[in-house]
Amino acid sequence: MIVLTHGLLRAVAARILSAAGAAEADAATVADHLVDANLAGHDSHGVAMVPYYVRAIGAGVLDPRAHAAVEDGGGPALAVDGRSGFGQVVAREGIAAGIARARAGGVVAVALRDAFHVGRVGAYAEQAAAAGLASIHLVNVVGHAPFVAPFRGTDPRLSTNPFCVGVPGPDGRPALLLDFATSHVSYGKVRNAYAAGAPAPPGALIDARGRPTDDPSVMFVEPKGAMRPMGEYKGYGLALACELLAGALAGGGTLPRVPTADARITNNMVSILLDPARFPGGPSFAAEIAEGIRWVKASPPADPAQPVLVAGEPEAAARAARLAGGVPVPEAIWEEIRAAGRAVGAAEIEAG
Ligand SMILES: NC(=O)c1ccc[n+]([C@@H]2O[C@H](COP(=O)([O-])OP(=O)(O)OC[C@H]3O[C@@H](n4cnc5c(N)ncnc54)[C@H](O)[C@@H]3O)[C@@H](O)[C@H]2O)c1
Repeated sequence: MIVLTHGLLRAVAARILSAAGAAEADAATVADHLVDANLAGHDSHGVAMVPYYVRAIGAGVLDPRAHAAVEDGGGPALAVDGRSGFGQVVAREGIAAGIARARAGGVVAVALRDAFHVGRVGAYAEQAAAAGLASIHLVNVVGHAPFVAPFRGTDPRLSTNPFCVGVPGPDGRPALLLDFATSHVSYGKVRNAYAAGAPAPPGALIDARGRPTDDPSVMFVEPKGAMRPMGEYKGYGLALACELLAGALAGGGTLPRVPTADARITNNMVSILLDPARFPGGPSFAAEIAEGIRWVKASPPADPAQPVLVAGEPEAAARAARLAGGVPVPEAIWEEIRAAGRAVGAAEIEAG
């Protein structure tokens, strides 16, 4: 493991993505998003994605120059075509357009289709919260083979479909930032266990006959099994809600209807933006949120060393620690990033 500063990671990611074809400003947007995911402690959605994006550009499934096309028909939904561009660029553009509409009308649903990997969904809830808006995001993942079996099923039919809710706080940051994959654990955790020859987290997997297993090879070696959804049938239900609403409302399609290609990760995302000031509870909203959070956090912890937290706090703590102490990056990932840079002719930045 090597420890690198966020500034160095940002510079390396931006340089490689711009050498791979992105305009400088867009490369910076993507690099900022990836490094912020690392800072938040979600390394699966951090700079480790750079080699993946470079391959996707080479394979012609990610257009590094594309920008969102916002199709505003004036109704409650704002359709946004991501045109296979960087999700971090086109989703930001779509949410920015949605923020303007939500300010005017109180509520809007941004229906983004055909974005290449939007990354850490919480970033869009933070964007909305910075504008004082609450937001709910449902995301499906199409374009590559599924990983997650439906509850009682034995083969993968869904992806890790993330779900996210952001509640704005008084300081422009979310007071609550709930943001998770609907699989029991992220795919990255299973892949890492397989690479390390370690067991997968308990409860994460089933084998090809649907029996629980901690053997991560079931995801990589025939006969393949599948990942389990989080929370049994409830998580399965939420994953399916993301699949159906994101795929069908945004118009990008659900898994069985979208052709798959190696290196492709397409996200469709329906984001509902709500301006609390336009709701009946608007005048007391900030006080209610503060009191509701104070109330749950006052529960005596089972373990005094582990107080009750509110979603978003673990990421804020990771960010503070990693801003100060650096971001740990496995050597193998760092080497992959450097190799991706060499492949597109980016000048190297030394880690030292
Ligand atoms: N773009 C995509 O296709 C895609 C697909 C899957 C996941 N993702 C992203 O991957 C990231 C990681 O997802 P994950 O499922 O591994 O996350 P996770 O399992 O770490 O769960 C994270 C959520 O749980 C909350 N949390 C953690 N510990 C807590 C505690 N003690 N008390 C209260 N809340 C707590 C966090 O604040 C956060 O909201 C997310 O940002 C998600 O958006 C993206």
